[in-house]
Amino acid sequence: MQTQIEIIGAGPAGLLLSHLLARKGIESIVLESKSREYVENRVRAGVLEQGTVNLLAEAGLGERLLKEGMPHHGIEIRFGANSHRIDFDELTDGKGITIYGQQEVVKDLISTRLKENGKLLFETSDVEILNPLDDKPAISFKVDGTEQQIQCDLIAGCDGFHGVSRNSIPEEKRKNFSRDYPFAWLGILVDAPPSSAELVYANSTSGFALHSMRSPSITRNYIQCDPEDSIENWSNDRIWQALHDRLETVADWKLVEGEIIEKAITPMRSFVCETMRYGRLLLAGDAAHIVPPTGAKGMNLAISDVNYLSDAIVKRYQTGSEELLDSYTEKCLRRIWRGEHFSWYMTSLLHKFPESSPFQERLQSAELEYVCQSQAASRSLAENYVGFKFK
Ligand code: APR
Ligand code: PHB
Repeated sequence: MQTQIEIIGAGPAGLLLSHLLARKGIESIVLESKSREYVENRVRAGVLEQGTVNLLAEAGLGERLLKEGMPHHGIEIRFGANSHRIDFDELTDGKGITIYGQQEVVKDLISTRLKENGKLLFETSDVEILNPLDDKPAISFKVDGTEQQIQCDLIAGCDGFHGVSRNSIPEEKRKNFSRDYPFAWLGILVDAPPSSAELVYANSTSGFALHSMRSPSITRNYIQCDPEDSIENWSNDRIWQALHDRLETVADWKLVEGEIIEKAITPMRSFVCETMRYGRLLLAGDAAHIVPPTGAKGMNLAISDVNYLSDAIVKRYQTGSEELLDSYTEKCLRRIWRGEHFSWYMTSLLHKFPESSPFQERLQSAELEYVCQSQAASRSLAENYVGFKFK
């Protein structure tokens, strides 16, 4: 088989890249190790920055997003008995966020690609990148038990943090940065209407909690837990008790319970592989970087990479110039490190650190008070939360 761009991974990064390239007449094949049903139902975050919504809408992917997505104009931060609203309208010249689950973005992309006869191969295995430094690289893989090869011009590694693409770059060429956190998030999806119109981030004495949502009838809640903990240790009663305790810290606010549809523990890590290009292989999204989920930057950063990568590939085919491919990494890294900093900042601000000294605890309280009392500090948080323009 042969194609122009071989894309590994059918998450938001790989699917959007294939869609944006198709709109410019560039052909790709997307290989995905899981089934279509699996990727369409995998529960992930659900906050889209303004720039992400604009990009998706301009790319013809806005139909369901603009109808079913829930525009939000602020978030609430709670600590001690305090509550503070970060007002996006006032602090960001009217920018906002839209609540729309990542799997909904994935569903929209898959149905659009398939309607346009895009080539998506699900349930592939043993993907191997054969010669990323050659002019005509290739990959081998198995589908239905048969080994296949695809020759192409470029390979896009969009296969997430645990994929094969990043590890195909020789170790001595990879420049990695990482940080682990001494806690994880236990997330639940609930069949119940949201208890607030906006997201509530709580730093309570027993640890962090977040009240979020997916639709007017489905909520998503998170609680900080030990990274070594197992989901079996968390009965539904224990989860609800922790959520009530951590979130119900202001008068008259009650968390609405409902049937728990899904529950899982996710570890938290910051990671950046600064080597996003190796010959004909380019990394995008979680394959190159991950953030802790506080602030919901993961999918937005993946989409930002793909925005730059698609422009660079289009320019190569339209003009023969690799100028934008050469500056791809540098452009992405500016936004990535901004997102890394913000996600680390929000995580540090809102979690209970098990090893924290009284000095560090006082610093955290001082920062929380500053964010809530200073317009400049609130503005900075709001500006980062709604995200920056793609340049
Ligand atoms: N071969 C083919 N596909 C693979 C392989 C492989 N060897 N390894 C992983 N994949 C697939 C995964 O099954 C997944 O569907 O690659 C896809 C990667 O998708 P994501 O993990 O969603 O990554 P990305 O598209 O970069 O989107 C980033 O996902 O994890 C969240 O918080 C993150 O919201 C962010 C977003
Ligand atoms: C979510 O709704 O899943 C979500 C919202 C905000 C975050 C992280 C996750 O910071």
